[in-house]
Amino acid sequence: MPKLTVEGYGTFEVAQDKRLVLAIEQDAHVDILHACGGNARCTTCRVEFIEGEPTRQTEAERDRLAARGLTGVRLSCQIQCDHDMTVRAISRLEGSGRPDPGSTPNETITPPAVWL
Ligand code: FES
Repeated sequence: MPKLTVEGYGTFEVAQDKRLVLAIEQDAHVDILHACGGNARCTTCRVEFIEGEPTRQTEAERDRLAARGLTGVRLSCQIQCDHDMTVRAISRLEGSGRPDPGSTPNETITPPAVWL
């Protein structure tokens, strides 16, 4: 099982290929935002990678980051835990002013992943 480390929260074994946004929320118990429900639209699930940044990317992630002019971050809803990784959770419910983190993303990547 891959190991997920979230800076300041610890290291957790997570199910192979689990969506990173769900692993951060359910395994590391971090109040990460996912305002669009994991559909590569809102970018609130963004994380910074410290180690193990995936080389592959979904088309939806690439397009959304480009549309928002975002660099140096990845969308955790578009990433699977298929190897060890260390991330910084930079977009959390606490301090956001939002009433909730957003609806829970599906177990599989949405929209259906088109890997680049
Ligand atoms: S872009 Fe909205 S939850 Fe990932």
